[in-house]
Amino acid sequence: MTSVKAIAESPGLSSIPSAYNFQKNQNDQQLSISDSLPDCSIPIIDFSLLISSCPEQRSKIIHDLGKACQHWGFFVVINHGVPESLMNSMIDTCKRFFNLTEEEKRQFEGKHVLDPIRYGTSFNTSVDKVFFWRDFLKVFVHPQFYSPTKPSEFREIAMEYCRRIREVARELLRGISESLGLEASYIDKTLSLDSGFQILTANLYPPCPQPDLAMGMPPHSDHGLLTILIQNENGGLQLQHNGNWVNVNASSNSFLVNTGDHIEIISNGKYKSVVHRAVVNNMKTRISLAVAHGSSLETIVSPSQEVIDNENQPPAYIGMKYKDYLELQQSNQLDSKSCLDRVRI
Ligand code: OGA
Ligand code: NI
Repeated sequence: MTSVKAIAESPGLSSIPSAYNFQKNQNDQQLSISDSLPDCSIPIIDFSLLISSCPEQRSKIIHDLGKACQHWGFFVVINHGVPESLMNSMIDTCKRFFNLTEEEKRQFEGKHVLDPIRYGTSFNTSVDKVFFWRDFLKVFVHPQFYSPTKPSEFREIAMEYCRRIREVARELLRGISESLGLEASYIDKTLSLDSGFQILTANLYPPCPQPDLAMGMPPHSDHGLLTILIQNENGGLQLQHNGNWVNVNASSNSFLVNTGDHIEIISNGKYKSVVHRAVVNNMKTRISLAVAHGSSLETIVSPSQEVIDNENQPPAYIGMKYKDYLELQQSNQLDSKSCLDRVRI
């Protein structure tokens, strides 16, 4: 399989191979792109308030976090305490990974969707009908930490970065638990976050000569509870919000956080996982780093009994082991919320 990077670097490339021509589906065409409407200001969560010892500040930010989950499934986290230099080193080491020779990268290809290190292109070339303008590296980083052996500094940087953002994710999940009227430690305990699954995905979107015809990543929701994303360039990530595609522009040193399918399941649909996609451009190479945080792979994730009782609603999803859910999502075409639909009652 040829990487998109190799295609993009072919001399004199002025059009994309036809396999990359993404036929936008009907629903997609009906959505307009909007980033200037007044209701399109993406929520900002000041992480320092979440860990503040002042109860008023904490209850205000938990309220805001709940609203962000309910109305957006997405928020920007500022003042998270993770050094910007570490974030930049992480992006740089991923860039160096993609700059290895094709032969070197192919060592890390992996054979099965649950292999702990997997370099590839598009989403899943054995099932993709159209190819996506994206190369990727996926690495399992918790509870067991894996790393490609090249570039040599990857291991140390990724280990530290993933440890730091795991702490941020767990704190956010404490706040989200509280916003659902549960004990702060509810998600942490019920979903065994001590051995929670964490997977790092580095995405490379090289410049594309026909950005309107190609797609970096098609509309989808993420598996797991929360995905924390950083990037080298703004312009690419879009969210579905109130029937529009909204461009996400992050300020430097912030995290882009989205809710995953398991937040929707445990909250019994009170919070929805957000549908998002990555579009491409013809100017710059964009790298994004999305780290998904979930329960342990052995946990059966189902709607919280407490939420069901509090809201007086029947369960809307069947329980499924995270490992099975992950395998289902990764072995099929990436298509909006088709995976979640499999567990919807
Ligand atoms: C993902 C994802 C978006 C982006 O990796 O799941 O949605 O902007 N990435 O790269
Ligand atoms: Ni995603």
